[in-house]
Amino acid sequence: MPTILVFDQDGTEHKLSAQTGDALMEPLRDAGLVQATCGGAASCGTCHVYLRDGWRANTGEYTEDEGYMLEGLEELVEVNDKSRLACQINLTDSLDGITLDIAPQI
Ligand code: FES
Repeated sequence: MPTILVFDQDGTEHKLSAQTGDALMEPLRDAGLVQATCGGAASCGTCHVYLRDGWRANTGEYTEDEGYMLEGLEELVEVNDKSRLACQINLTDSLDGITLDIAPQI
């Protein structure tokens, strides 16, 4: 059961528990930290997060749809090398302790 450490827009820390196999977006949405309006289809950009402390390297490559969505987000918010769409990351036990910041909401 992976634990997720989240810093919201106010810098407040949230420690969430998740189920292995869930998308990272799901516990963030359930805690009210992201809207996830597209339900995980990589088409709304509201689950954009910045991964901390080298976690970006542990989460694999962007999916094709995610790459397009992040390109589109660049006009609205900062997109950097720590950016991911949380709906495109499947939680595994190796992601226990993953730490992230919620990106500015669009
Ligand atoms: S939930 Fe819409 S892009 Fe991730």
